[in-house]
Amino acid sequence: MVGGGNLGCETAWLIEEMVKAGAPVAIAGFVDDSTVKQGKKFAGYKVLGPVSWLKGKGREYKAVIALGLPLDKMKISKLLKSYGVDLFSVVHPGTTIGKGSVIGKGSIIFPQVALSVNVKIGNCVLLNPGITISHDVVIGDCCLIGSGVHMAGKAVVGRGCEIGTGTNIIPEIRIGAGAIVGAGAVVVRDLPAGVVAVGVPAKPIRKIRRRK
Ligand SMILES: CC(C)(COP(=O)(O)OP(=O)(O)OC[C@H]1O[C@@H](n2cnc3c(N)ncnc32)[C@H](O)[C@@H]1OP(=O)(O)O)[C@@H](O)C(=O)NCCC(=O)NCCS
Repeated sequence: MVGGGNLGCETAWLIEEMVKAGAPVAIAGFVDDSTVKQGKKFAGYKVLGPVSWLKGKGREYKAVIALGLPLDKMKISKLLKSYGVDLFSVVHPGTTIGKGSVIGKGSIIFPQVALSVNVKIGNCVLLNPGITISHDVVIGDCCLIGSGVHMAGKAVVGRGCEIGTGTNIIPEIRIGAGAIVGAGAVVVRDLPAGVVAVGVPAKPIRKIRRRK
């Protein structure tokens, strides 16, 4: 697991649940660039070293990026690709996955998530607890979807979006890449890429200020 933070702790638990349900996986430990964490234990597992510890270890290990923010996930997934390390998806055994639905590599799916039919979840997507996703929804790579989000049929969420806790999205809505939707929003009109939108109905309040 990449990232010894809150999501890392939760991801370890999700993998333990998968193991209990019979998945043939074992946790080797964490990698984290924080020197304070290295060599210590986190969530019961060793912090093996910095992310670069994985360099050239693609035959022995797969990785899951236990980081929430889309930009961090994009950066680390590029790095892991250059190290030749493949991504591993963590899907809670109780997840409902409808016929024709697919989940990309390196995604993390919490309990009480229900995907209807023909849903496409990209790579490194985080689906928090209690999310319902209706038929033919498409979620782009590296999105962070908060707890209790409901997406109606054929909605399309672009790459690297953050959808706040408790948001509702009506059918066939398109949310542009990198947009952030505030907690509790109701999205009834398409949203452009790279904006922060809030409210009921959700309206853009500003463009996103990117971290340097
Ligand atoms: C939308 C959001 C990103 C804005 O954060 P921010 O840029 O720091 O914005 P601010 O807190 O400065 O608020 C800006 C304005 O938007 C309003 N606002 C912020 N979040 C809002 C929300 N969710 N719904 C309605 N209005 C909101 C604020 O009241 C403020 O209004 P004002 O200018 O009239 O005072 C954040 O509030 C939010 O909702 N994040 C979602 C977090 C989440 O659920 N993540 C999932 C984790 S699992």
